[in-house]
Amino acid sequence: MAERLRVHVDPDKCQGHARCKALAPELFELDEYGNAHEVGDGTVPAGLEDKAWLAKSNCPEIAIEVTEE
Ligand code: F3S
Repeated sequence: MAERLRVHVDPDKCQGHARCKALAPELFELDEYGNAHEVGDGTVPAGLEDKAWLAKSNCPEIAIEVTEE
């Protein structure tokens, strides 16, 4: 069974590049300033693990953390 992942956006690092939202709209949403935060508690639904890693690797500010639980 695959490990369960959780995503988290560091609000101090996020500069609103929005690549996370473009790549993984199921996992990230943008606030009124264009800064991202994780959907819900950040738990990655089964099948979306690749999108979590993709978003992390595409954030220019290295603001996205992916943890394995
Ligand atoms: Fe912010 Fe990075 Fe997404 S800067 S909006 S977490 S791509």
